[in-house]
Amino acid sequence: MKIVIIGSGNVATVLGRLCKKRQHEMVQVVSRNAAHAKILANELNCAYADYDEKLNESADIYIIAVADTALQEMNSRLHLGNKLTVHTAGSVSKEVLKDISHNYGVLYPLQSLRKEMQYETDIPFLIDGNTADAITLLEDFASTLSATITKATDDERLKLHVAAVMVSNFTNHLYALAEDFCKKEGVDFGLLIPLIKETAERIQQFSPADVQTGPAVRNDIFTIDKHLRILTEHPQLKYMYIKLTDSIMKG
Ligand SMILES: NC(=O)c1ccc[n+]([C@@H]2O[C@H](COP(=O)([O-])OP(=O)(O)OC[C@H]3O[C@@H](n4cnc5c(N)ncnc54)[C@H](OP(=O)(O)O)[C@@H]3O)[C@@H](O)[C@H]2O)c1
Repeated sequence: MKIVIIGSGNVATVLGRLCKKRQHEMVQVVSRNAAHAKILANELNCAYADYDEKLNESADIYIIAVADTALQEMNSRLHLGNKLTVHTAGSVSKEVLKDISHNYGVLYPLQSLRKEMQYETDIPFLIDGNTADAITLLEDFASTLSATITKATDDERLKLHVAAVMVSNFTNHLYALAEDFCKKEGVDFGLLIPLIKETAERIQQFSPADVQTGPAVRNDIFTIDKHLRILTEHPQLKYMYIKLTDSIMKG
């Protein structure tokens, strides 16, 4: 497929690299900041433009990977006729693209992506399209990028995005709080890495609710009280500890 990527951030970069690696032809990177577009285009060995310059009209698919809030503005900038045009957002309806093309949809990577990632990671894709043809085309394209392609409506994608925030963004925030706590208390956060890995590995075989461990699930008030005393100096972490302990105890 010939591909134009619109945007030059994390998703544009990771998807651009993946498409190139899978032998798709990157024809152009378009972004509001020409300097950012140029950096990605150089890496992908293709042309670049900002929104004032001419968009390459020869591509088979246009991937719009810009900030959620910018998607609506794309209506006034892009008019792509029948060209398959997708966005990559979890919580934005595909209908945001209906005035840009007659063939539109979503290619949502259900993964945390950062342009610094130089390794290849598994990316399940949730796809959607406004017509059966758009969905088929997108399925064929996405299956060159990943072994896990799932059709999901706007509503299903939104729900999975909520779950994704919980399992990725919230757990990472807890890692950040714990790391800060360890630094301040002079203990080594690095010693927790095997525990982090084991917790994530385990849920590939068991339902998370069935493998919950720790003082809250044991109703061990004595230990919880000891923890809360040491957390007096860390009010934000103490708040999270109380809320999550309460949630675990409610089951
Ligand atoms: N990162 C992830 O893990 C992830 C995973 C799945 C889905 N997504 C979704 O993918 C999309 C892109 O996310 P991202 O992580 O790649 O974001 P990002 O790294 O912050 O990049 C955002 C891109 O949008 C452009 N942009 C921002 N505001 C704009 C505006 N008002 N007008 C035009 N362009 C604008 C930025 O341009 P400049 O370079 O000029 O700032 C940049 O190229 C979002 O819908 C996000 O929800 C992200």
